[in-house]
Amino acid sequence: MDVRAAAEAEIQHLSKVWHDGWHDAHAQIVPAELTSLRSLESFAERLQAALSHVRVSGPFGAPTGLCIVKNDELYQLYVSTQSRGTGVAAALIADAEATLAQRGVEIAWLACAIGNARAARFYEKHGWQRTGIISVNSETPQGTFPLDVWRYQKSLTLRASGLSL
Ligand SMILES: CC(C)(COP(=O)(O)OP(=O)(O)OC[C@H]1O[C@@H](n2cnc3c(N)ncnc32)[C@H](O)[C@@H]1OP(=O)(O)O)[C@@H](O)C(=O)NCCC(=O)NCCS
Repeated sequence: MDVRAAAEAEIQHLSKVWHDGWHDAHAQIVPAELTSLRSLESFAERLQAALSHVRVSGPFGAPTGLCIVKNDELYQLYVSTQSRGTGVAAALIADAEATLAQRGVEIAWLACAIGNARAARFYEKHGWQRTGIISVNSETPQGTFPLDVWRYQKSLTLRASGLSL
């Protein structure tokens, strides 16, 4: 399954994938105030700002999933409803881990909303370990929103050497 850079012309479509996936996974488990800030426009703005770091799967013009890596963090991973359970997310996370490893990141980390059980199962299946609860500053159009999350990490050095945790 190919993973490629996103194109500017795909921002609208990707905003919908991100918006719908965010609300599916988070609307019931995060504060209502944060949910009210997660508009389609807010995702479009964040995609525009991060465009050079956005990786996607699926056909040009209609990508099925997106992933963003920031510094040593697997920052965002969203797959359309129809593409969940198909291996698209696995291809995106493998691409993200390869990017991080190529940058020399030895321990990558990610934040997962507390109670996002499907995502947690997915990360654990792919070798990520939950290390505890931390507070992160979630980006919103009104500034940052503090949120307690599950922190996951993965040793990419071990992965590269063929050993498993
Ligand atoms: C998280 C996400 C990228 C994972 O991709 P996916 O294609 O759904 O992942 P998979 O189907 O390969 O793996 C999900 C696992 O969770 C399991 N699962 C499904 N629903 C579940 C639930 N409610 N509770 C626990 N596990 C669940 C699946 O059975 C599967 O495990 P299995 O392979 O052992 O059967 C995708 O679900 C998604 O985009 N979700 C919405 C956005 C999101 O939560 N993003 C992550 C933000 S941190």
